[in-house]
Amino acid sequence: MCGIIGYTGNANAVPKITKGLSVLEYRGYDSVGIAARTEDGVRTVKCRGRIGMLEEKLEKDPIVGSQCAIGHTRWATHGGPSDINAHPHRAGRVVLVHNGIIENYKELKSALQKDGVSFLSETDTEVAAAVINACYAQTGDPKTAIRMATAKMKGSYAFGILFDEFPGEVWSARCGSPLILAKAKDGYYLASDMTALLPFTKEYCCLEEGQIAHLMPSGAELFDVDGAEIVPVWSVTTMTPESAQKGGYAHFMLKEIYEQPEAIEKSVSPRIINGLPDFSADGIDASFWKQVKNIQIVACGSATHAGLAGGHVLESVAGIPTASYIASEYRYHPPIAVDGTLVIVISQSGETADTLAALRYAKSKGLPTLAIVNAVETTIAREADYRIYTYAGPEIAVATTKGYCTQVTVLYMIAAAIAHSCGRIAEADAKEMVRSILEDAPEAIREMLTQTERLREIAAKIVKKDHIFYIGRGMDYAMSQEGALKLKEISYIHCEAYAAGELKHGTISLIEEGTPVIAISTEEALYDKTESNVREVHSRGAHVILLCRDDAKNPQLSADEVVLLPTKSDAGLLFASLTVVQVLAYEVAALRGCDIDRPRNLAKSVTVE
Ligand code: AGP
Repeated sequence: MCGIIGYTGNANAVPKITKGLSVLEYRGYDSVGIAARTEDGVRTVKCRGRIGMLEEKLEKDPIVGSQCAIGHTRWATHGGPSDINAHPHRAGRVVLVHNGIIENYKELKSALQKDGVSFLSETDTEVAAAVINACYAQTGDPKTAIRMATAKMKGSYAFGILFDEFPGEVWSARCGSPLILAKAKDGYYLASDMTALLPFTKEYCCLEEGQIAHLMPSGAELFDVDGAEIVPVWSVTTMTPESAQKGGYAHFMLKEIYEQPEAIEKSVSPRIINGLPDFSADGIDASFWKQVKNIQIVACGSATHAGLAGGHVLESVAGIPTASYIASEYRYHPPIAVDGTLVIVISQSGETADTLAALRYAKSKGLPTLAIVNAVETTIAREADYRIYTYAGPEIAVATTKGYCTQVTVLYMIAAAIAHSCGRIAEADAKEMVRSILEDAPEAIREMLTQTERLREIAAKIVKKDHIFYIGRGMDYAMSQEGALKLKEISYIHCEAYAAGELKHGTISLIEEGTPVIAISTEEALYDKTESNVREVHSRGAHVILLCRDDAKNPQLSADEVVLLPTKSDAGLLFASLTVVQVLAYEVAALRGCDIDRPRNLAKSVTVE
């Protein structure tokens, strides 16, 4: 997602735009720009980098005397972060900023190129500007041009638009992406959300789907989907600048946990054709998967845990030998790479030094490399032979949630693609895997998020403990490792994950009266085994919190607390248990008053080895 802002009125526009953009940075921060109306026409200043870079450029070469401007901070989707791909984009007599994705931009672009239109950037946004400009050249009227142009577009947009012949005016339109109008004594504003406008006003109006807005220094006009003028309904927000940036959530981490269902949809939908997994849009076709005979997954921290979870699916469904490696160990103790080995590196930030070093090592050995990355065009994404973006949107909290979540969904889809392309599973089974990840996973997350009050109560019983253990078998052991990391990194409580069957080989000596043991048991075939491990620790005084499938028999028998997980499919169970371990960690840390979004000693991207 990106952030857009616009202003017209009787005050200096540039500082308003830059201030608004600095507040909108959480929506994206890989490139930034402003287009300001001056007496010499519209002047655009834009660059790769964060708002500070733009402010430096404006200090060196200021835009003076502008009272009408639009601005944009980008989270790259089509076309990597660069000066050229940064917004605003000009096409003819039109200058535009955009939040969203024009899905049919390639066909619109080729049609315009046939008419002799040339393009500078790789973005869908420049195409949108060119379509509006072409319609504007026909009609000479901004509103008609916008209506004609958006009728040709598929996908999502929130536009801020300047037309050369209409100084002092900002036009906007929205479909699928949020857009807020606002009014103040010194003029009228538009922005992606109220966050950016709180420094200037609290009086706002939400643009509805398909509506068009026309902002002038002295007023605002609003038009409905049919082009008829309607009266804007102004409201007064109760948000504060700090709370608004988090969309009303207390922390970015909680906001990002709640964004997971939407993030799954964004990471999976572009890779489904006729109900089947398809990575051709990522430059990977079925023939590529057929060559894969062995997989090495290399990552750090939670990304390693995503690789463990995804690796279980790759082995069980696709039948591909898969091992996960900690990146900082991989290149010093490299595993033997048999013929047909694919190295998959996973990184939310795309800049983790250990993972990058492992990627470079694999490449130096001539191994094909595939990166699963969230931040577009980052070093790891650029240097891998292939990349699949998770499209989770900016993740601000240091403790990853939607980043991990979408990494696992991509691995799930890869497993289905490999299994189907190798004929290991039938088309119907591949479609069922896709369906379960696209439907059951988000549904399970939403269902578990209705249990936050119950999880807060459980958190209150373990918040003062010094040592907490997670146990599980198979996929549940992988999830236990993510749960333990989440808990310790934001609450600072010592927490370790153990293979449930391993406890009795030493670690069980640590169990004392009241020691919390969180047991995850979603795999039906392993339920009885895990239950016996639960009984072992319970009989030694542990306070057992059992996360288990909702069709388990007598789960209460050996657990002090039971959290039932919806058992619709393996994918549903996996993401239900993920949601519980995330929320549990969050609630414990909140009760301990920790700095949840910025835990001590940690950084969002560890760019040192
Ligand atoms: C996870 O909550 C941590 N913040 C950390 O383990 C993180 O997953 C790890 O540093 C890898 O980061 P990356 O995904 O950006 O490479």
